[in-house]
Amino acid sequence: MDVAVRRAEAGEARELGLFAEACFREAFGYLFPEDALDLVCARAFAGPLMEELVRDAAWIAEGEGGWRGYAALAARPCPAPGLPGPQAELSRLYVTAPWQGRGVSGALMTAVLAEARRRGCRSVWLEAFEGNPRALRFYGRWGFHDLGGSIKDREGIHLPHRILGTVFSA
Ligand SMILES: CC(C)(COP(=O)(O)OP(=O)(O)OC[C@H]1O[C@@H](n2cnc3c(N)ncnc32)[C@H](O)[C@@H]1OP(=O)(O)O)[C@@H](O)C(=O)NCCC(=O)NCCS
Repeated sequence: MDVAVRRAEAGEARELGLFAEACFREAFGYLFPEDALDLVCARAFAGPLMEELVRDAAWIAEGEGGWRGYAALAARPCPAPGLPGPQAELSRLYVTAPWQGRGVSGALMTAVLAEARRRGCRSVWLEAFEGNPRALRFYGRWGFHDLGGSIKDREGIHLPHRILGTVFSA
């Protein structure tokens, strides 16, 4: 499969924000009434936040025809106990629908985990929506295990999440 994964550059924060919003609307738009979705997106893909995301570390998966997915890693401690530090959060992982199940997600995950290791992290964690079995299965295959639950409040809509973590072998 012709996909290349590379780090996003500082000048791409705006373009990545537009792509990231389209990915989010495609995957999770069904959870929100239209006006709430606009507010959620205005927050989640705001310029300064996307700049910070790219500064921390973001990856773009691309191939012929354009971008197919993206991921981001942030130096944030896990809200659930049980993981050795230093820890990093896999804060975003999205593949566009036509490219799911075709190895793009694995290529992004490989890049994220390699960077976390390179930074000296001992574990990586993430939060995934409980109603997203495909993602939960995918993370399970990558060695993530359940650490507990959390509730995310998105414009008054409460979404139960699972906190997952994976520990690097020495
Ligand atoms: C969650 C998400 C990243 C998972 O990625 P995915 O590609 O759908 O994951 P899948 O498990 O369905 O597909 C992976 C499969 O791709 C296939 N695959 C892997 N490499 C491949 C390759 N080189 N060529 C073709 N297929 C390949 C395999 O069947 C693989 O399964 P395996 O790991 O058991 O071998 C993706 O579905 C997504 O972006 N969803 C929408 C947004 C989302 O939910 N994000 C997560 C927020 S927490």
